Amino acid sequence: MKFKKKILCIGAGYVGGPSMAMIAYKCPDYMVTVVDINQARIDAWNSAELPVYEPGLDEIIKKTRGRNLFFTKDIEKQIAENDIIFVSVNTPTKTFGKGAGKAADLQFLEKTARQILEHSQSPKIVIEKSTLPVKTAQAMERILSSTKRNITFDVISNPEFMSEGTAMNDLDKPDRVLIGSHETKSGLKARAELVDIYARWVPKEKIITSNIWSAELSKLVANAFLAQRVSSINSISALCEKTDADISEVAKAVGMDSRIGSKFLKAGIGFGGSCFKKDILNLVYLCNYYGLKDVADYWESVIKINEYQQDRFIANILGSMFNTLAGKKICLLGFAFKADTGDTRESPAIYITRKLLAEHAQVVISDPKALKNAAIDLAQDQGSKISYIEDPYLAASGCHALVILTDWELYKKLDFQKIYNSMVKPTFLFDGRNAIDHKKCFDFGFNVYPIGKPALSHLMD
Ligand code: NAD
Ligand code: UGA
Repeated sequence: MKFKKKILCIGAGYVGGPSMAMIAYKCPDYMVTVVDINQARIDAWNSAELPVYEPGLDEIIKKTRGRNLFFTKDIEKQIAENDIIFVSVNTPTKTFGKGAGKAADLQFLEKTARQILEHSQSPKIVIEKSTLPVKTAQAMERILSSTKRNITFDVISNPEFMSEGTAMNDLDKPDRVLIGSHETKSGLKARAELVDIYARWVPKEKIITSNIWSAELSKLVANAFLAQRVSSINSISALCEKTDADISEVAKAVGMDSRIGSKFLKAGIGFGGSCFKKDILNLVYLCNYYGLKDVADYWESVIKINEYQQDRFIANILGSMFNTLAGKKICLLGFAFKADTGDTRESPAIYITRKLLAEHAQVVISDPKALKNAAIDLAQDQGSKISYIEDPYLAASGCHALVILTDWELYKKLDFQKIYNSMVKPTFLFDGRNAIDHKKCFDFGFNVYPIGKPALSHLMD
């Protein structure tokens, strides 16, 4: 079959795989190829067990893979054969050298740029899909124009705003698609080419264009604003616990103001995931780099509150359980950083588990999708004190406390009376996500400790 357009994506991760699957699904006349240096990842994309769990992804992959969606490791050949190239490689926080712990590590991006330069024989549109510091396109352009070969490269910024767990819906019906380019003749032509792709299924008014630096910066700012809302509500949850106010009631009252809005006001154990922390750190680094220390400090406080919230949660567990966890069995319900994903990157569960182990507790971890990743994350920790049991009833049996760390829908439907009966007494329940019916659990016999609400304890005077 002759395809109308050929599209390549470098990086077959959480973003590259689902976002290209959506393009292939919506544009059956385009050929979409996804490449990666990681052979195991490519093999998994070509297998029945995809490397990423996302509701709805399997179905789309089944419809597109082998038809107009292909996964391969043959990066060089694909660069040569495709003229529209998305770059969706990882951009973690730098762990070494200047800017360690804050700046973005751009080594994967730079390697990709060099590969594109080396293997291109025709003009290319190179699209930044990874989240990047503002001005990265300039570095990309400098690399791509570093030889005298007569090939032109147009660099476009098209940051991705999907969330894990709802990625397919977000990609299908995005709030907006942002496309930034230079406002030169060829920049605008490249921008139009990309607008054409999205316009196949995204309403025109939702496709917004901007200059390239605004697009790069908007992505960091969107994540910073979202994380800031989580830290704001979590900071107020601490005050609620001191004053008998209820954080859900406060969030509802505040969120009904249409200027504020109700989303992202759920108090919990703090935000996790691969991006919020790294993107804010990156923003903080950029602000400091440009001499804006007060702005940097303001954004850094969002991360500080996130850490404070996790420490507060652990202190509450310890304090409520008579200041000793040594030898006690604690069951963690959920390890993924949020529901509907197997992803555990920066999950608060990792930090919380380590703190519990430091108190010499035994930890039983349960999760419907994230146990494999949890075992990888905790490979260096005290293995003998950790067990992994998917069935929540088996996991909780014989434990002193239940700790809800991920708001999986299935936890809301558990038979907590049955769970209570199988646990050691007195029995503690720490709901780090305010996910379940606390009054009901209290009536079953649990001592219940929610976030930002009065505790329901049988042990109180
Ligand atoms: P990921 O780690 O899951 O995937 C990145 C992939 O790139 C990896 O499979 C890696 O092997 C591959 N890669 C690295 N260097 C390569 C090279 N030179 N050639 C070919 N492949 C290479 O990361 P991700 O979660 O998909 O995130 C990718 C980018 O998108 C990041 O910048 C992230 O901030 C951003 N982002 C992520 C999300 C999300 O929900 N995960 C959402 C929006 C934006
Ligand atoms: C986030 C953004 O929502 C996406 O728009 C963005 O594209 C993505 O980061 C990215 O750049 O990687 P994601 O991290 O997948 O998406 O998931 P979110 O739904 O944003 O949740 C992040 C964390 O905040 C989770 O740990 C979640 O439990 C927590 N959260 C979220 C709360 O504690 N309370 C809330 O009200 C909302």
